[in-house]
Amino acid sequence: MSLNNNFSKMLEDKVKSIETLLREYLPAQEGYQKIIMEAMEYSLMAGGKRLRPMMMREVYSLFGGTGKVIEPFMAAIEMIHTYSLVHDDLPAMDNDEYRRGRKTTHVVYGEDMGILAGDALLNFAFETAFRAFELCPEESLKIGNALKVLGHKSGIYGMIGGQVVDVKETGKAVEKDVLDTIYEWKTSALIEASMMVGAILAGATKEEVETVEKVASNIGIAFQIQDDILDVSSTEEVLGKPIHSDEKNNKTTYVTLFGIEKASKIVEEMSKEAIECLHKLPGTNAYLEDLILSLIHREK
Ligand code: IPE
Ligand code: IPE
Ligand code: MG
Ligand code: MG
Ligand code: MG
Repeated sequence: MSLNNNFSKMLEDKVKSIETLLREYLPAQEGYQKIIMEAMEYSLMAGGKRLRPMMMREVYSLFGGTGKVIEPFMAAIEMIHTYSLVHDDLPAMDNDEYRRGRKTTHVVYGEDMGILAGDALLNFAFETAFRAFELCPEESLKIGNALKVLGHKSGIYGMIGGQVVDVKETGKAVEKDVLDTIYEWKTSALIEASMMVGAILAGATKEEVETVEKVASNIGIAFQIQDDILDVSSTEEVLGKPIHSDEKNNKTTYVTLFGIEKASKIVEEMSKEAIECLHKLPGTNAYLEDLILSLIHREK
């Protein structure tokens, strides 16, 4: 399967429009606590692939959504994802000093402000998502359901849970089942939230939302395996974050368990499975399919 010629241009335009949106939702930099607003902007606007808000909007349009209700949720998911990265890089966790092509937030603002900037992004994400009620009061029921998924997938049954097991198992030999659970929670959960919120806000049925969750689960695991591969095969310049972070921290990954070649094959298989599963849904979105395919061989 080859990617649409227009894909790169469309991707670039979509990233730009997401960044404009993120800027609109960032808090004003003022008050005695101004430094935290600066640190929030520093980490959020550093670049990054903007994959989660992009997938959210693409699934929303796959189910026929055209309104503005999706926008605060797009900003919210990128804030939650960015907070997870700010905390993931802290000395107590992966202890990395480079992210999205810049010094990490705790290196620039200090460890205290690094912790607080992560907290601030998480809390502000929900303040932002709640703005959907003002924007589209007639959609309150769907907004409530979307918030429930966003909270659940970000928390102890999702991303935070995954980070907990990841940290707990660091330095130990981890079996495939446990590693899969770590990946499902630490990485798939936020991708599931992104895609499920898009479906819910567009009015998808319960069964359709479940199919979307399955698609996102596969995309997320494939995405984390590719992240493991890039950690050993890429460069800091291309990735915008340090390579060999996993080795430094003694992490078991798909690369240490299976080697690069087998791991790459699994990425490809799981991504194709995700696309097949996507075809069970009533609507189609060629761009979303191209996006999923582009992730198989992504270089950053
Ligand atoms: C990095 O996510 C953390 C993982 C789940 C592997 P991304 O690779 O999406 O990071 P950005 O947003 O592009 O910086
Ligand atoms: C992190 O996984 C996933 C998160 C929830 C932040 P990694 O620790 O592999 O992510 P990177 O490689 O630092 O982006
Ligand atoms: Mg980590
Ligand atoms: Mg890390
Ligand atoms: Mg990694």
